[in-house]
Formats: sequence, structure tokens, C-alpha cells
Amino acid sequence: MKIAGKVVLITGGASGIGLAAVKLFLEHGAKVAVADINEQSGKQLIESFPDEQLAFFKTDITNESDCHQTVQAVLSRFGTIDVLINNAGRLESHSTGQPDWCISHE
Ligand SMILES: NC(=O)c1ccc[n+]([C@@H]2O[C@H](COP(=O)([O-])OP(=O)(O)OC[C@H]3O[C@@H](n4cnc5c(N)ncnc54)[C@H](O)[C@@H]3O)[C@@H](O)[C@H]2O)c1
Repeated sequence: MKIAGKVVLITGGASGIGLAAVKLFLEHGAKVAVADINEQSGKQLIESFPDEQLAFFKTDITNESDCHQTVQAVLSRFGTIDVLINNAGRLESHSTGQPDWCISHE
């Protein structure tokens, strides 16, 4: 699959593994939409790349209406979504011992 020109939506793309994926796709000429709950990191990220290649959408992926709004916003901005990388999440809480999905769905 040729990456150049494809539209990639990456959740949790404002830091860590997601951010590494964002940079890799951008280097290969993709258009990248980042959906992340951390607005400050998202704003810093979009300052480093051209508008036509990268967009940030503040999104809480545990909130269904947030997800719908983000998908609609990405479609409005880029016209399609070719690739979804659903990466957002938190590692197991050491204080509670609960896995991430338990915390997210309480
Ligand atoms: N790093 C590891 O060793 C490791 C191991 C196993 C699994 N994982 C999983 O890989 C993914 C990325 O890990 P990482 O180390 O890059 O983590 P990270 O904390 O560096 O990045 C996670 C990103 O997800 C965002 N995020 C968190 N909750 C969110 C929510 N509800 N809605 C939208 N965005 C949200 C954060 O703001 C952050 O930008 C996570 O799902 C993590 O659970 C990581």
C-alpha cells in the first residue's frame, strides 16, 4: 500500500507510540488526523507541521459522541479515512491494579 496521500486517523497520537506513528506517516507523505484527549500536546504538535498535512481533534475516546464528532470532523477536513490506528489508552494502574479497560468503562 502506498502511504503518500492516504488519510490516517491516529488516536492517542499526541505522545508516545502514537506520536511516533504520526511522525512516521507524515514522513511518508500521509495526511494525519490526531485524536487525543491532551489538547496542549496536540496544539504543540500541529505547530510543527503544515496545516494541509496534519490536524488535531480533541477527543476522549471513551466518549461515543466525541468519537462521532471527530470522525465527522476528519471527513470534513480530509474527505476520507483510509487507515485507523486506535492506539489511545493508559497502562494498568499500579495504584488500583485494574486494567485500563476497566477504568475506561466505569
Ligand atoms: N508503552 C508500553 O510499554 C505499552 C505496553 C502495552 C500497551 N501499551 C498501549 O499502547 C498505547 C500507547 O502507549 P504509550 O506508551 O504511547 O502511552 P502514552 O501515555 O505515551 O500515550 C497515550 C496517549 O493516549 C492519550 N489518551 C489517553 N487516554 C485517552 C482518551 N480517553 N482519549 C483520547 N486520548 C487518550 C494520551 O493523552 C496520550 O497522548 C496505549 O494504549 C497503551 O496502553 C503501551
